Amino acid sequence: MLILGIDTSCDDTSASVVEDGTRVISNIVSNQNEIHRKYGGIVPELASRKHMEMIWPVVDEALNKADVKLNDISAIAVCYGPGLVGSLLVGVCFAKSLAHVNKIPLVAVNHLEGHVLSSFLQDPAPEFPFIALVVSGGHTSIYRVGGFCDYKELGRTRDDAAGEAFDKVAKLLGMEYPGGPLIDSLSEKGDSEAVMFPRPFFQDSLDFSFSGLKTAVLNYVKKNPKSRKEDIAASFQAAAVDVLIEKSVKALKDEGLDSILLSGGVSANKTLRKMIKKRAQKEKFRVYLLSPDLCTDNGAMIASAGFFRFKQGETAGFDLNPRAYMPLGE
Ligand code: KG4
Ligand code: ZN
Repeated sequence: MLILGIDTSCDDTSASVVEDGTRVISNIVSNQNEIHRKYGGIVPELASRKHMEMIWPVVDEALNKADVKLNDISAIAVCYGPGLVGSLLVGVCFAKSLAHVNKIPLVAVNHLEGHVLSSFLQDPAPEFPFIALVVSGGHTSIYRVGGFCDYKELGRTRDDAAGEAFDKVAKLLGMEYPGGPLIDSLSEKGDSEAVMFPRPFFQDSLDFSFSGLKTAVLNYVKKNPKSRKEDIAASFQAAAVDVLIEKSVKALKDEGLDSILLSGGVSANKTLRKMIKKRAQKEKFRVYLLSPDLCTDNGAMIASAGFFRFKQGETAGFDLNPRAYMPLGE
């Protein structure tokens, strides 16, 4: 069964053709970094305009690269939230029109479910139940994944997402958007123990907070303008990674499970990947990491989640609307 997956939740226009929810045939992503770079973050109005320009070419390329026609497609899966409403609207309206005109079933997918189920696009896929840390520019949450469509949120950020903190710290160090990958590279030349930034561990909670860490970096930079950027980047990254790993491992132990999946843009971070693997080896649990193109937003994860929903008989009506806020597992 071939599913066309579409994601326009943030600043990437993406479309993909996936077979049986597990095999990526094509996966096209057009990012807008060039447009938002000079503003130091995403400008929602510019993001939706660019999605409107790119949606047809990206979907066309996904179909061409997969060497399939629309009438080979069993269902169109579209991300309808959470995300920027203006951006989501472009993907949702486009998918509805394409489904209506071509008489193809439409399936609505939660972006966060897409990140969790992107793990089924790799071999081996995790076995249920497992813990999933979804850590990106817009989200930082820990879930207990009991099965397809069975999610329980165990913790979430109380303020900024981890990726947002990476982007903001990068900006205050004079780097461009998106700063996460730049902090990742710069940290390789820095001393992660140069500055001891705060690590908020709320007692008995799996919630996160990254805004205090970001402010601590800002205050440190103001007081120490001559300190090495490499050391600040590495010390900030160490604090963020520490908290992400501690909370994920705590979730694993609290739930009595033995597998963790890391997904979302920040899960491409080299230090996070290295540290969790080390921890897994020491404490004997399994860790599932995605290839970098599946960590960041993509249409394949939407197609995969769409497949599993469609298989259960779920389809969406043409009254489908985008939603900015849409927690998973409620
Ligand atoms: O999953 P994603 O593409 O979009 C959202 O759903 O938000 O994640 C984008 C976020 C950005 O904040 C970006 O800076 C961050 O992921 N990111 C990274 C790395 N690669 C992307 N953060 C840290 N290290 C990386 N290597
Ligand atoms: Zn995402």
